[in-house]
Amino acid sequence: MSTVVLVGGQWGDEGKGKITDFLAKQADWVVRYQGGNNAGHTVIVGDEEFKLHLIPSGILYKDKKCVLGNGMVINPQVLIEELEGLKARGIEMAELFISDRAHVLLPYHCRLDEMKEEKLGENKIGTTKRGIGPAYADKVARMGIRMGDLLDDEEFSDKLAQSTASHNEVLDGVYHLKGFDDQEIKNAVEEDLKKIKSAIQDTSVMVYDAIKRGENVLFEGAQGTLLDIEHGTYPYVTSSCPTAGGAVIGSGVGPTAIDKSLGIFKAYVTRVGEGPFPTEQFEADGESLREKGHEYGVTTGRARRCGWFDAVIGRYAVRVNGLSHAVITKLDVLGGFDTIKICTGYQYRGEILRDFPASLAKIKECVPVYEEMPGWEEDISGAKSIAELPQNAQNYLKRLEKLMEVPICIVSVGPNRDQTIVLEEMF
Ligand code: IMP
Repeated sequence: MSTVVLVGGQWGDEGKGKITDFLAKQADWVVRYQGGNNAGHTVIVGDEEFKLHLIPSGILYKDKKCVLGNGMVINPQVLIEELEGLKARGIEMAELFISDRAHVLLPYHCRLDEMKEEKLGENKIGTTKRGIGPAYADKVARMGIRMGDLLDDEEFSDKLAQSTASHNEVLDGVYHLKGFDDQEIKNAVEEDLKKIKSAIQDTSVMVYDAIKRGENVLFEGAQGTLLDIEHGTYPYVTSSCPTAGGAVIGSGVGPTAIDKSLGIFKAYVTRVGEGPFPTEQFEADGESLREKGHEYGVTTGRARRCGWFDAVIGRYAVRVNGLSHAVITKLDVLGGFDTIKICTGYQYRGEILRDFPASLAKIKECVPVYEEMPGWEEDISGAKSIAELPQNAQNYLKRLEKLMEVPICIVSVGPNRDQTIVLEEMF
């Protein structure tokens, strides 16, 4: 038996959906532990493409159990739409359980997210406008509504009335907007609730018992290390903890329950939204990575900012997630470049920084120090083993391992399940 936490090592969109789906084959449980429908995971099975936002990527195996953990914020309407979308495509889904401690994301959260971003103008965070920040703000302010509250009519009515009134005050007073009607929200949620009521449970107990029985559990992080509210490029972050520690908090098991910590890294780096990005490429290289890698957001369709692999960030992710292994995705996208650059350190006011700084002002001033490696021309999307990769591609991977000080266990060379090279089994 094994328990593995899978996290994004960069700014999200590293290909976690594909790797979760790939590893889910051997897992009994797939547990999401933070975030909400700000995430966008693309999974390709045969000729079919699935875009998942809330539901763990393990849902595409009918013999698995999937959990939406207590650390998540759940928009019931989106959850139902996603489940019904899968059903309509004839997917025989995994069993799904929802933590009674997860928070409910409601329409006023989305409206406030939009309004706050608009008000920030040039200083906006570049959120997905899915209400994530306001929903977590309510949780921390101790005025959130939890999935379990929906099961008690009186409790739900009281909390919803209070919460709606409080948000309406802000919408009206600050933004001069018409507020929401709590009864209308309640009616819509109750309609959705009929379809998921029995799934709302104490999932911490379920996951704990599964681990005790020796079952394989995969904890699936959304977003990425640099979007973490604690360790990311604050304030240009999401409002939850995508790092490995978040798996413990957001699913209700202790740190001793996790065996392996797996960081997913794209072979280059992308970012959506605002905030510093030292290795960003604004000209031909950036454009080339974006086009070859189809770097457009799954959730918002926004063009992603692209740049070279940053080993300073890589080492940072290894440290704050306690990574035992790394996965490199989209290696095929680097084919065709004469030379490939890797950032090994940052030049800052005459010194070389090897550790990722907290200060955004400092990061903005940092100039990446690059090492150049020869590229390869061959199409590697059909490679089935490391030995089948061109020598230069093998050298690139070896260099990343050395710079990040972590072994690579999986290399992905295309979006399909069978375009995955395994160097070490995780379960
Ligand atoms: P929020 O999570 O919608 O509040 O957005 C906060 C920041 O996280 C913004 O920069 C978003 O672009 C980014 N973000 C949120 N979810 C994802 C994701 O799944 N992939 C990449 N970036 C994300």
